[in-house]
Amino acid sequence: MKEKQKKVYRTEDPKYYIVSYKDDATAFNGEKKGTIVGKGVVNNRMSNIMCKMLEENGIETHLVEELNDRDTVVKAVEIVPLEVIVRNVAAGSFSKRFGIEEGTVLKNPTIEFCLKDDALGDPMINDYHILALGIATEEELKTMTEMTFKINELLKAYFEKIGVKLIDFKIELGRVDGKIILADEISPDTCRFWDAETNKKLDKDRFRRDLGGVEEVYQEMLKRVTK
Ligand code: TMP
Ligand code: ASP
Repeated sequence: MKEKQKKVYRTEDPKYYIVSYKDDATAFNGEKKGTIVGKGVVNNRMSNIMCKMLEENGIETHLVEELNDRDTVVKAVEIVPLEVIVRNVAAGSFSKRFGIEEGTVLKNPTIEFCLKDDALGDPMINDYHILALGIATEEELKTMTEMTFKINELLKAYFEKIGVKLIDFKIELGRVDGKIILADEISPDTCRFWDAETNKKLDKDRFRRDLGGVEEVYQEMLKRVTK
């Protein structure tokens, strides 16, 4: 977790932490820095709404209790040091790597893993590397993959109803009592959202690519999920 954008505090109970969402924004492994006013509130509230929806559909998450606009109590987890990325439509690094035009609908959703290591620039890693390095067991890897695709189906359907295409997203998973649970935010920082009618970008790409109207689209996404 990039500590700049979220702060994590211990509580008196080692089973729980408090995550505090800030307005600081970084991109490209911290190379680009800025502030997105109101982002912390949007990400906190939106992530919690998403976690509740996923919990209702059988996905266990770290969410315990929203304390206020920016702070949430979460379960203490042992983070699996992987960024798990799902893509429904080509964009970003996928488009660049494979020379596929952004917006090309993929024939099926894809999954990719990146090793969480800032010094190495979060390199992509495959299933065999994950097993070879002991980052997860075979059973965990299977669970993580299945869970991530299920999360994709649930999120895709949810966003479709509010006029948003889920292009891709990144999640992190963690272990609690030997079980794998969702342990990260789901927000415009970590997903690509395009308006279903106009394809307008409603996510952090507006910040990454200096497209303007950054604050407005974060508010727009919160408005759509709270309607
Ligand atoms: P990418 O196209 O840059 O690989 O990004 C894929 C998705 O993952 C996109 O929705 C943004 C999200 N993401 C993060 O949340 N954190 C990161 O550090 C990166 C590189 C991507
Ligand atoms: N937040 C990540 C960073 O700090 C990357 C991104 O979202 O583009 O580099």
